[in-house]
Amino acid sequence: MSKTSKIEIPDWLLHRLSVNDTGFLQRVYSGGLDKYKKHLDRIGFVGKERILDAGCGFGQWTFAMAQTSKQAIGMDVDPERLFVSTQLASINDFKNAEFRRASLEDIPDFEETYDAVFCYSVVYLTDYPKVFRDFFRILKKGGDLYICTNGPGWYLYNIIEQPNPSIDFHPRRYGVQTFWNTLIRKRSGFSLSAGARIMTPSGTKRALDKSGFDVVALGAEGTLAIDDRHTPQPEPNYNATYMGLVNVFEVIARKP
Ligand SMILES: C[S@@+](CC[C@H](N)C(=O)[O-])C[C@H]1O[C@@H](n2cnc3c(N)ncnc32)[C@H](O)[C@@H]1O
Repeated sequence: MSKTSKIEIPDWLLHRLSVNDTGFLQRVYSGGLDKYKKHLDRIGFVGKERILDAGCGFGQWTFAMAQTSKQAIGMDVDPERLFVSTQLASINDFKNAEFRRASLEDIPDFEETYDAVFCYSVVYLTDYPKVFRDFFRILKKGGDLYICTNGPGWYLYNIIEQPNPSIDFHPRRYGVQTFWNTLIRKRSGFSLSAGARIMTPSGTKRALDKSGFDVVALGAEGTLAIDDRHTPQPEPNYNATYMGLVNVFEVIARKP
């Protein structure tokens, strides 16, 4: 099993990607895997037999899981991201990390396949009540689910502060579009596009309860820890709120 913290990314792989994706890939791997492993340890998502990274993107969490659990499966709907992750696995010698193409709205796995499902920054792009029902189905009894997602503060932050702009990504447009998507969906139940929609801690908890989960903990990103041994992240990636609105938040839930 590869134990390297620093992931080698060859230039030819970067050159395939859009400007926004190149920046994102470089950002997520810039500090190596240690911060991801620490986060997984803090929330108790280590030492698992089989763990799913749902919506794995470029695979940084999947590789951190591969180093801390027996088998890690990265699942994503985007073939380009899966290609990059598969290449990184082979170049960096990860034998227990596997990548698969599937939508979280229709996961092809059998019931009770995973000990844990981890899902960072994805469900706001999906029909999340449906996704939660599928997570419940594929988790073993007593299995844990981790969700990290975005509240309204994140989109307001994008509109006002415009973080990480690029020629093919406009944070302000993204933020405004998400407010608009959410409004239209709330008023008519109709989704204008496949874009993001705003989630709230209470709405997320309600949807998880409805799917059968017990919500164990809920808080701002980087603040949840399973016991006193594990202190919250010293420097969370995001502020808990932006202009008084909930920003990025995380939830741990259990299948009873
Ligand atoms: C913001 S990225 C986050 C990726 C990764 N979890 C991370 O933390 O870097 C969102 C990812 O969700 C994936 N995604 C969006 N909708 C999906 C769906 N219905 N099923 C599976 N993956 C999806 C996208 O392709 C993308 O890779």
